[in-house]
Order: sequence, then structure tokens, then C-alpha cells
Amino acid sequence: MSEGLKILFVSAEVAPYAKTGGLADVAGSLPQKLVELGHDVRVVLPGYKEINYEMDYVTDFQVELEQRNTTCIVKQITNAPVLTYTLNNYHYYGRYGIYCHHDDGARFAFFSKASLELIKAIEFKPDILHLNDWHAAPAALLLKEYYQEKDPFYRGIKTLLTIHNLEYQGHFGKEILEVLDLPESYFVPESVEFYGMFNFLKAGIVYSDKINTVSKTYAKEILTPQYGEKMEGILKTRESDLHGIVNGISYEIFNPLTDPFIYFPYNEKNLTVKTKNKKALQKEVGLPESDVPLIGVVHRLVDQKGLNLVCDCFKQIMDLDTQFILLGLGDPYYEKAFLKFMKKYPEKVSVKIEFNEELAHKIYAGSDIFLMPSAFEPCGLGQMISLRYGTIPIVRETGGLKDTIVDMNYDFDNGNGFSFRDMDSKAFFDALKRAVLTYRDEPGTWLELVKKGMKSDFSWNKSAKEYLALYDKILEE
Ligand code: GLC
Repeated sequence: MSEGLKILFVSAEVAPYAKTGGLADVAGSLPQKLVELGHDVRVVLPGYKEINYEMDYVTDFQVELEQRNTTCIVKQITNAPVLTYTLNNYHYYGRYGIYCHHDDGARFAFFSKASLELIKAIEFKPDILHLNDWHAAPAALLLKEYYQEKDPFYRGIKTLLTIHNLEYQGHFGKEILEVLDLPESYFVPESVEFYGMFNFLKAGIVYSDKINTVSKTYAKEILTPQYGEKMEGILKTRESDLHGIVNGISYEIFNPLTDPFIYFPYNEKNLTVKTKNKKALQKEVGLPESDVPLIGVVHRLVDQKGLNLVCDCFKQIMDLDTQFILLGLGDPYYEKAFLKFMKKYPEKVSVKIEFNEELAHKIYAGSDIFLMPSAFEPCGLGQMISLRYGTIPIVRETGGLKDTIVDMNYDFDNGNGFSFRDMDSKAFFDALKRAVLTYRDEPGTWLELVKKGMKSDFSWNKSAKEYLALYDKILEE
């Protein structure tokens, strides 16, 4: 395996500086592991207004965009464990909100282009430009078609695109051609055109040297119409360059023994302390301190997460004599539906419509069961985090959930949770019921399951090496 690789990791979200979802966790932890393994990895993200960390000025340069020159001020986060740059520009990022602005196309076109300008300005020529999701994907096109043509500095740099979620592709109008000063000839189905729109992710899929997604199963699923989000055709043309590497989680951040967010530290040797965390959580969220199984949910409240299945059988879940706690933000439809359940079952249900990292950790630690009945799930981190805290996941057998969770009723030796196959509320409820009955009637088995989960290894140890092997493969070709 190569030593001392130089990598620039380009991501719209990086934990803890800017986070809305799992992308941030990955961008905050994989580079760190690669640095530990001896590589020169640096991270870059947009300089959003909400980044509340001390930063030092590095340099500045001009970026040509929307037919004019605009200044990019490069800063770096002070004393970050991985050298992390932010690309600052008042016009694009001088307002609150990471996404959902009318000019997101231009905002992330700027990010993509400025990331390429950055490496020359700081004289860091990476072996691999590791692009993540649609926000950074146009950099692959710009590098291959323009920068490498014009400027010898850029020649030899290879690109990897990681798709964290194919549902989000960055569809914008044709005007992005002008924003990026690209000729009409790119607005064809073989390039960035997609149903009359400019598709950012497609620019990465077509022009990156290799592509990967965040689990082996999802890498296969996205080649089918069911999961392909209308991209299965273009992905098929790149099938031999498409890989699957399951994510890891940070075992430092998610460590029940040192986690500053949870009430009482514990590990698999003192599980009575986990029960103390449960009681403290019940108290904090206004539920009675009872022994009934506490079911936790921490998600963006979107269709992807299979919450319709939970809504469909909510009454049955309540009839099982359980408690339910949900934390998340998102689709108003789900926000309202769960708030209504809380009103209906105030003694059993607590719902928090917010983004709250601290409470999330408390739910991972204090719950008994964690739900992930996703319609699709590129990888999913919640199931791995919950296992680390001894909370047993219930998952649908899709994407990374299928690759990380084994149903204990089918394979006890390797079992670490409960799962179901069809996107069907009966199938989901059956899995949940099996979990609740095991918790209630077979405490010994449950304890074994909890301990096994806590001892399992879903850290980056293995997957970081898979990324290194993939980087090597790109560099050999
Ligand atoms: C996205 C996906 C999730 C994945 C995460 C990190 O949030 O929906 O499945 O774990 O990205 O790759």
C-alpha cells in the first residue's frame, strides 16, 4: 500500500464545524483516521456564516464565476486535528443556512471551482482529490476538461467521487453553464444534462476517475430502477469503476465511557449504568421512569427513513407497552404526525422537533431499541452508533443496514439486531415485536445481544484501509 499519500477531502459538511447529516460525520472522522495511518490529508468546506470556531487567515485568490471575478478568502480552523480549510466569500456564504438558498447552484459551483484554485494557491498538489456528493462533484469536470488542459500543475491529480446519498443530485437550471463558463456542448445526456436540468452529481459521475458509495449493497442497488433515482443508466456505464465501502464511525466521539454529552459513563462491564442513563433520559424528556422498553429515533424526518411504517402501526407499538422518543427535524408532515402522537399518548411518547447533538447522544445511550426502517439507506450511521451504546437496532434490509446488521432470530451467533425485508408496516412491526418480546421475556439473551453490540468494531479501522486500497488502484491505472 502507498505511503504518504496526499489527499484533499472536499465536503459541504464536516463535523463538528457544519453538520446536517451523516456526510458531516464521515468527513469529520475518515480523514482523521487516514492522517493517523500516515497520510497527508486535508479537508475543505465552504466558510458558512454559522461556523463558530476560531480560524486563522491562510491566503486569498480570485475565482472567476458568473462572468466576474470574486474573492475567495482561505482560512484554516485553529488547532484542528486535521488541517481544515474554509473557503470564504461574503456574497455566497455571508448569510445563515447551509442549504436551501435560491442560488445554491452558484454557491456550490463556487465551492467546486474554488477548491481547485485552493490547491494551487497553497501549493498542495494532492494525489487524489476526494469529492463528496453533488456539492463538490463539478470539480471533477473542471479539473479534467479545463485545469489539466491549461495548467501543468494540475496534471496527474486523480479524482474519487463518493456518493453518500443518490437522492440528492443538485438539479439546477441551464444557467449553470454560464456560471461556470462552460459551452453548450456539455448540455447533453452524455455529460451534465439531466431531464433538461444541469445535474451536479452527474458531472462527478461522468468525469471522476472512480466512484464509490458508502456500502457494498447500496453500490449494487443504485444500478436498479428502484434505487437508481433515474441515474442507473449513467451509473451502469461506469459500473467497472463503481465501488462500495461501508462507513465507519468515530470510536472516540461515540464512546459511552468518555462521551461528555451523556449522563453517566459506562461500558459493557457496568450495564446497570446504562439503566441509569435511561432513567435520566426519561426524566429529562418527561416520560415516567419505567422499565418498559424505550424505543429511540434520531433522524432527519424525511421519507427515506421509513417513518411512514412507524406511523402506520403506531397504535400497535403503544399497545405493546413501550415508550417512544423521537428527535429530528424535516418534513412538516412527519413533524406534525409525531407531535400528534405525543399529544395522544403523553405518558408514553416524547417528541423533540429540533437538531440537538447532545440529546441525540443521550437517546443513543438511554434507549433500549433504535429504529431504522429506511426505504433506502446508503450506509446509515445510527445503527452502528446505537450498537456502540448497547442499544439494539431494528432495520430494514437495505443498503448499509443490510451490510451491518444481522437478525438474531435467523443467525444467533452473528446476530446483532432485528431486521425485515419488505417496505411494509406488518413486516416492520413483526421485527419490532420480536425485539420487544426478547427484551421482556428473555433478559439473558437481550443482555448478551447488548454486550456483543458494544464489543463489535464499526470504527474506521477496516474501511479506512479499503479507501487506501481504492486510492492505490486509482493511482495505478
Ligand atoms: C447520507 C446517507 C446515509 C450515510 C451518510 C454518510 O446521510 O443517507 O445513509 O450513512 O450519508 O455516508
